[in-house]
Amino acid sequence: MVETVIELKGVEKTFRDFWMRPLAQAVRGLDLEVRRGDVFGLIGPNGSGKSTTIKMVLGLIRPTRGTVRLFGLDPRAKAARTRLGYLPELSHLHPFLTAEETVLYYAGLSGMKRAAARARTAELLEELKLSHVRRRTVGGFSKGMARRVAIAAALVASPELLILDEPTSGLDPIGTREVKELVGRLAAGGMTVLLTSHQLFDVQDICNRVAVVSAGRQVGGGVVADIVAAARDKRHALEEYFEERLNAQKDEQ
Ligand SMILES: Nc1ncnc2c1ncn2[C@@H]1O[C@H](COP(=O)(O)OP(=O)(O)O)[C@@H](O)[C@H]1O
Ligand SMILES: [Mg+2]
Repeated sequence: MVETVIELKGVEKTFRDFWMRPLAQAVRGLDLEVRRGDVFGLIGPNGSGKSTTIKMVLGLIRPTRGTVRLFGLDPRAKAARTRLGYLPELSHLHPFLTAEETVLYYAGLSGMKRAAARARTAELLEELKLSHVRRRTVGGFSKGMARRVAIAAALVASPELLILDEPTSGLDPIGTREVKELVGRLAAGGMTVLLTSHQLFDVQDICNRVAVVSAGRQVGGGVVADIVAAARDKRHALEEYFEERLNAQKDEQ
């Protein structure tokens, strides 16, 4: 049975200023469905509404129109929110905390008991290949290592759904590969993932389904394997598809 984890129907979001004058129409009518076991990529140029969409899924902001359901519930419901882990676009770790203290801190925030938090933190640091640096302060970590600590923090309460906003942005090729391998392992273990990226090469490798957004509208999307099968240049299939969809959108305007 297909289980829907995230569902957006006709979602629009207009940001307004203090006087309620519209500032930006960030999302202009989006339908999305993320199913259990998906590694779903939301792709689009900068400013196309990806982070705004994610904030609505997290229940941090409310849509101007349309509905968002998370595990079939209102995203602001505690019963829904406690089932997901989130990596923000810019994650600031405290530079003077060790890797272990950082993850334990987030375990505490999500209300885990101390013994369970310790066991889960040790298990995660092992899984994310951070055990050997667990007593080192994260201020001295490479960007790739710091990103993995932030992902460990998002995973500490054993969520069913992991939401990653630009998980590979600003990382060098090694850091990027580490994060991609991690997402691959999580997906193989059955984790449902929603991620955003503008690095299409990475998305092609790790996502099974994508949606292409441009200026707050969905302009394409589908099963990655189908997109690759239809492409001339298999290695750059998603880039090819992405450019074709964005150009088709421009022609319509
Ligand atoms: N809090 C906000 N107030 C006003 N405008 C915003 C706000 N957040 C985002 N925007 C605008 O909405 C549009 C989409 O932004 P965003 O969702 O961050 O795009 P992306 O993540 O795809 O780069 C942009 O034009 C951005 O400037
Ligand atoms: Mg963004």
